[in-house]
Amino acid sequence: MFKTIEWTDEGVVMIDQRKLPSQEVYPVLKTYGEVAHAIKEMVIRGAPAIGVAAAMGIALGARQIKTENPEEFEKIFFNICETFAETRPTAVNLFWAITRMKQVYLKLKETGLRSIVAALKNEALHIQKEDVLLNRMMGSHGANLIKDQDCVLTHCNAGALATAGYGTALGVVRSAVEQGKRVSVLADETRPFLQGARLTVWELQKDQIPVTLITDSMAGYFMKNQEVNCVVIGADRVAANGDVANKIGSYSLAVLAREHGIPFYVAAPLSTIDLNVSNGEEIPIEQRSPNEVIALGKTFIAPDGTRAKNPAFDVTPNIYVSAIITEKGIARPPFVESLRLLKNLPSMKLT
Ligand code: MRU
Repeated sequence: MFKTIEWTDEGVVMIDQRKLPSQEVYPVLKTYGEVAHAIKEMVIRGAPAIGVAAAMGIALGARQIKTENPEEFEKIFFNICETFAETRPTAVNLFWAITRMKQVYLKLKETGLRSIVAALKNEALHIQKEDVLLNRMMGSHGANLIKDQDCVLTHCNAGALATAGYGTALGVVRSAVEQGKRVSVLADETRPFLQGARLTVWELQKDQIPVTLITDSMAGYFMKNQEVNCVVIGADRVAANGDVANKIGSYSLAVLAREHGIPFYVAAPLSTIDLNVSNGEEIPIEQRSPNEVIALGKTFIAPDGTRAKNPAFDVTPNIYVSAIITEKGIARPPFVESLRLLKNLPSMKLT
């Protein structure tokens, strides 16, 4: 099985997701700047994976700081954190991970630079390990919503590649399969970056979970033909009221699912639930380069001079969401109450 991201003595190693499925390559990123660039350029992507990468990048950056002067160290350390905060705006796990790293620093700032650097590395590794455990917990809650022989429609990639391992939406599928259920997956190709075609199909094939690729515009056809039992997607940020920001196209799927009476489930760790934003309107939506729409790889698919827009995410209003699957259980509407309740439940000791 592949590793999405790994800490090594040489640097942070991650599978280059831009090159999948044709090449499986693992660049070694030796500086925090390289890790930040990798997040921005989607070498690594997916909300939880971005959080882990930022944590490891910050730990790497702290290790590289040359000064022995605590004030100078602090200034450089916060600048490194800022570099990561500027990589991608929508996935809240990024900011959540940066905050965790800052908290470690602030707690230990009087103890000496060596111990700070060591503690930052440990925290990054802890975030990584925790993510896999939380995904497994989420998976086992979510699997109870899946029946034997169900066909699950998913969008983008919310799998092992989008996390430290196992996945959120695909974690639910994996867990249902582990329970012995015969589950198949319809994967939306997910234009323009093709995370569904390139990544979801790739990782499900590796696990021998039956997967069929469709273009985004085919979802309604399969729902109308009663070939979809439920939709399960991940999330980049969930507002306090249950509005869900996820890959562009998620909203259209949710509207279609409701029209056809198909449950629409969102699987996301509680770190993706942002109680500081009351509704989806407050979630910043990343606008990416129009070139991703105009060209497929290096091949242009529209005439010279074509204007294009490329919002990377959309917001699904909570009325379309049947349930939000978290590591502490399943939240149902009204989400303002159910999400707050789950967020406030004591965390289990995970290691
Ligand atoms: O632009 P991406 O590929 O980072 O977008 C990823 C998604 O939208 C995922 O569905 C989301 O991050 C959940 S990943 C477990």
